[in-house]
Amino acid sequence: MIKNKKILLCVSGGIAAFKAAALTSKLVQAGAEVKVIMSHSATKFVTPLTFQALSHNEVYTDTFTEKTPENISHIHLSEWADLVLVAPATANTIGKIANGFADNMLTSTILASSAPMFIYPAMNSNMLANKAVTRNIHRLKMDGYHVFESGYGYLAEGFVGKGRMQEPEQIIAHIELFFDSDKLLSGKKILITAGPTIEKLDPVRYISNFSSGKMGYALAEVAQKMGAEVTLVSGPVTLSPPPGVLLLSVDSAAEMFEAVMSQFNDVDVVIGSAAVADYSPNFAENKIKKNDEEISIDLYKTTDIMKSLGEMKTNQFMVAFAAETNNVEENSKGKLVRKNADLLVSNDVTQHGAGFGTDTNIVTIYSNDEEPLHLPKMSKYNVAMEIMQQIAKRLK
Ligand code: PMT
Repeated sequence: MIKNKKILLCVSGGIAAFKAAALTSKLVQAGAEVKVIMSHSATKFVTPLTFQALSHNEVYTDTFTEKTPENISHIHLSEWADLVLVAPATANTIGKIANGFADNMLTSTILASSAPMFIYPAMNSNMLANKAVTRNIHRLKMDGYHVFESGYGYLAEGFVGKGRMQEPEQIIAHIELFFDSDKLLSGKKILITAGPTIEKLDPVRYISNFSSGKMGYALAEVAQKMGAEVTLVSGPVTLSPPPGVLLLSVDSAAEMFEAVMSQFNDVDVVIGSAAVADYSPNFAENKIKKNDEEISIDLYKTTDIMKSLGEMKTNQFMVAFAAETNNVEENSKGKLVRKNADLLVSNDVTQHGAGFGTDTNIVTIYSNDEEPLHLPKMSKYNVAMEIMQQIAKRLK
């Protein structure tokens, strides 16, 4: 996957710069074309000559040393790259990128580039926990950069803690997955439920919830991009379906159940991100009239769609969601079992930036085969990417 890819490696000044040299060597061995930019501080740890020898390319350290008159180096490099890696990314460089600084060759190139960017923080554990650094990392994630967790282990300071740069082998695995993601789900049929349901009380009133459909539509978009054939069963929302996705529009939980059942036998994966009503009233043919009395409405249980599918499933891979406000972990684990799901994506909808209506979500993915995967706040699109990668890994 990496063969012939153009990878721009940006090395900032930390002790982990030595790992960037090993990374360069592995990328070149895998067939990538690698160009390296070093910050001035990085050259104090490892010399540019090391990277030149390993990459077989000249190394860039200074914005004002223009090597070829035909182009401006930092603009040329920013357009040349298929993927930009910042490894190691120091607290200083992270701060500069997060705040749009362009005061050296490395940051100027990054500011000019629209290539996908992978950032690998490496620093002392106290620096990593610092509020400003945490804020800057968070900002990068919100801006769409892929910021990877630092590793836990022996640090140069002589103690064990969090802050190590990820190992070159792990970084290569991320890159392979990235370049392969177009085809990760090709040949798979995926059914996704999204949005709210509305349960009519009478011709003018209904019971519903705050689901906007953003989570489910992001899942549909990512699944489609990864090569899957996607059917989206959606309650009433204001979003347009991603191009190429088959949309089945429904209103009520009962209609959603019917639509899902009509597709179930043909699909490989079902993802239930819809907020389906658990209870529905009897529909009054005429508008319920106001009078002086209090009224009460009887509500009847709807069919639990995901639970029914869980009981029927043969080879389908099933992903349920859980929208929780309390006892989040216990309730989510219970739903994973009761719905006979393979993955359970849990969101605590009381958290700021999580759940209904927001552009971001904060989820934990529960499974039967791995420890829970706690994800930080990220865009719903990136949450969808993570979920699809978890599915693809297991379908393999
Ligand atoms: O649409 P957004 O504004 O982007 O918001 C996203 C979201 C909060 C709706 C989404 O992230 C989410 O949590 N979806 C599940 C909402 C929900 O109904 O959760 P639940 O815990 O009540 O249900 C558990 C699972 O059972 C879900 O997969 C649900 O789709 C399914 N279910 C529930 C009831 C029912 N009658 N049939 C079902 O299939």
